[in-house]
Amino acid sequence: MKSILNKSHLVESIPNVLPVVPTMDIVVFPDMIVPLLVLDPKIINGIDSAIETSKMVLLLAAKKNENDGQDSIGTKDLYETGTVASIMRLIKIPEGGIKILVQGVCKAKINNLSTDNQSLSATINPIIEDIKKENEIELKARVNNLKILTEQITSSGQAFSPDFHIIVSKINDPDKISEFIISHLNLEVNEAQELLETTSKIELLDKLYLLLSKEVEVAEMQEKIKNNARDSINQSQKEYYLREQLKAIKKELGEDDLEEIEELKEKLQKLPVIETTKKEIARQLSRLEHTVPDSMEASVIRNYLDLVFSLPWGKTSEDNLDIAHAKQILNEDHFGLKDIKERILDFISIRKLKQDSNTPILCFVGPPGTGKTSLGRSIARCLGRQYVRISLGGVKDEAEIRGHRRTYVGAMPGRFIQGIRKACSSNPLIVIDELDKIGSDFRGDPSSAMLEVLDPQQNKEFYDNYLGVPFDLSKVIFIATANNLNTISAPLLDRMEVIQLSGYTLEEKLSIAKQHLVKNAIIDTGLEGREITLENCVLKNLIANYTKEAGVRQLERIIKKACSKVARSFVETNKIIKLSPNNMEKHLGPRQYLDEEALKKDLIGVTNGLAWTVYGGEIIKVEAVLLPGKGKLILTGQLGNVMKESAQAALSYARAHAKDFEIDEKIFEKNDIHIHVPAGAIPKDGPSAGVTMLTSILSALTQKPISSKYAMTGELNLSGEVMPIGGVKEKVLAAKRNKVPHVILPEKNKNDLINSEKITDGINIIWVDNANEVIKQVLVDEKSKRT
Ligand SMILES: Nc1ncnc2c1ncn2[C@@H]1O[C@H](COP(=O)(O)OP(=O)(O)OP(=O)(O)O)[C@@H](O)[C@H]1O
Ligand SMILES: [Mg+2]
Repeated sequence: MKSILNKSHLVESIPNVLPVVPTMDIVVFPDMIVPLLVLDPKIINGIDSAIETSKMVLLLAAKKNENDGQDSIGTKDLYETGTVASIMRLIKIPEGGIKILVQGVCKAKINNLSTDNQSLSATINPIIEDIKKENEIELKARVNNLKILTEQITSSGQAFSPDFHIIVSKINDPDKISEFIISHLNLEVNEAQELLETTSKIELLDKLYLLLSKEVEVAEMQEKIKNNARDSINQSQKEYYLREQLKAIKKELGEDDLEEIEELKEKLQKLPVIETTKKEIARQLSRLEHTVPDSMEASVIRNYLDLVFSLPWGKTSEDNLDIAHAKQILNEDHFGLKDIKERILDFISIRKLKQDSNTPILCFVGPPGTGKTSLGRSIARCLGRQYVRISLGGVKDEAEIRGHRRTYVGAMPGRFIQGIRKACSSNPLIVIDELDKIGSDFRGDPSSAMLEVLDPQQNKEFYDNYLGVPFDLSKVIFIATANNLNTISAPLLDRMEVIQLSGYTLEEKLSIAKQHLVKNAIIDTGLEGREITLENCVLKNLIANYTKEAGVRQLERIIKKACSKVARSFVETNKIIKLSPNNMEKHLGPRQYLDEEALKKDLIGVTNGLAWTVYGGEIIKVEAVLLPGKGKLILTGQLGNVMKESAQAALSYARAHAKDFEIDEKIFEKNDIHIHVPAGAIPKDGPSAGVTMLTSILSALTQKPISSKYAMTGELNLSGEVMPIGGVKEKVLAAKRNKVPHVILPEKNKNDLINSEKITDGINIIWVDNANEVIKQVLVDEKSKRT
């Protein structure tokens, strides 16, 4: 930008007072030529008057504010140092406003800024060239530095045009070089203003050097980012080429997928499957052949083929049908369970005579820890079959049984096909565990899918959605286990032969512990071969005071704990401790179940009821009290509807037969009866507490205590008949466990205890037909009080 005006002449002719033109976003330096657009009438007035006279104006940059552009600028928003410029050209714009072309002449500082309605003007002091001469050498050094720096910028190819360095390299005058660089830098207003206000040339050159180095840094950073991006693109391209090469090499060596597919094809020919299955597998193989080996689809097909070729198509294991051997194994694994063992031996005998006989599906039902699951494993062992356990507890998704369709991402075969794959034999013994805990929701009804699995007519061609071809499950032996028959759907139950396991008596538990649990625990804790015995009295104590269950799972756990204490002391002190009833609490912690004192006391309104739950039998107390009121019946303890109704029925019976029990009729009008069944937080239901509630009610009404030596169960109808109930064995066992000597049961349940001498041994069972018989037995007459 060459000055086209005679500068020194111009500087001399600068008037003292000049109209001011504010500039936005730009600081005009001396010698710079810039076009400006002016819209403000006050400023236009000033320019008009300047045109008439000196043709000069003072350009003052406006400070940059946060709310830039929002408000009109005032005088205080202008910097105080500006540039006097001469107007070279003026064009009026038809829409209003003017455009002027100005050239900077020299810097000037304002003394006074004055504004009126007509114009904005300032009295000024021009800043003429620094009088004091600056050190030539220092200046030169700085100019050279700047030249080197611009060269760097140009070589990095950023920011400025290629000519930038060439021009700079040819300028030697410090003024010119700074002028040129300033016009090329992209400066903020405040930065530019700072440069404008710098009077020392050396200082100015230093500042320019700093600004330029910043540009260099930015340029370098940009270049680096660009290179990184390029590198990563290059890397992935390189990998692609290498992979392609690898493929080509493998192909040359004959190690590619094609060979693998050919191998699978050969395998398929030998696979003992029906023709349609073969076709389907062949179809999948050819699909694999035509997909890109690394694609998602190929890996899905490969997974599928993996499964297909690892399934034991037609591969069966030979059954061991030796009865003596089976007997031995069954007795080795489990104590007692006579009926069940007999049933299994029957089954093996039939198998021996008729190989293709229909396999029954056994369903073991009973309280937890009674050996249902472990019996399944034992049967597999005596038949010499592979054992697979499939737990259906909490399964809600039908696909868990029938498999997902292969179109889903992460699709898998159902549990049965997975089980068969694991068993490596198509005739394993599958224990379907927790059949009663199968669920159902929007994802389908798994229990109806189970029908297909368990139906001998259908399971010959069991269709798993993932496998996509039928698989023969008819040679599998299924054994189901459940705690509760009520939640198993009727059609499913219909396909199975239910075998009930009841809880164990104390003697049975003792034998199980002695013959199995202690032995297993010793093996598990690594104490084999050492002198360790748990005496009968210790085991009995463990059973009575550390467990309260129908089965033996807690017992198994506490025996294991006892053994681990022995092991610990052996490791620490090389001594085997001997457990006795006296030191048990020291090693195993406090006894958890003490004989409940309250159970032993005769109380008014409190009856020992017998209840059945999936955990076995239990004693539940039914409490009744009279309160002043109007004959209302209050029921608490989370009773279900059936139980509420049987309470109502019991009360009605008591009221109807008030005379027989010597009860004053008026008592019903003046009192409410409150029946509570603890534990209050556990929901209870069923009709079997009818007799129990009647007993409590009558005791409360007559104020005669109830003998705590009795426990009872039985449904009551309005004519006082005692109706049969379920879970008799478990209930009797519960009474025995709680040391209640007399049990009152409905006469109509007598058949349930045939052949159950072990259970009834040591307990007095009173069979009743009518409620009156119960009352006669249990209400304690103060005069003839029992002891
Ligand atoms: N009669 C028995 N003889 C020997 N051990 C037994 C006997 N009954 C149960 N057990 C042992 O008790 C433990 C628990 O048995 P298992 O797991 O078979 O109970 P389960 O009936 O399947 O219970 P759940 O209903 O809770 O599944 C096993 O270690 C098992 O060997
Ligand atoms: Mg089980």
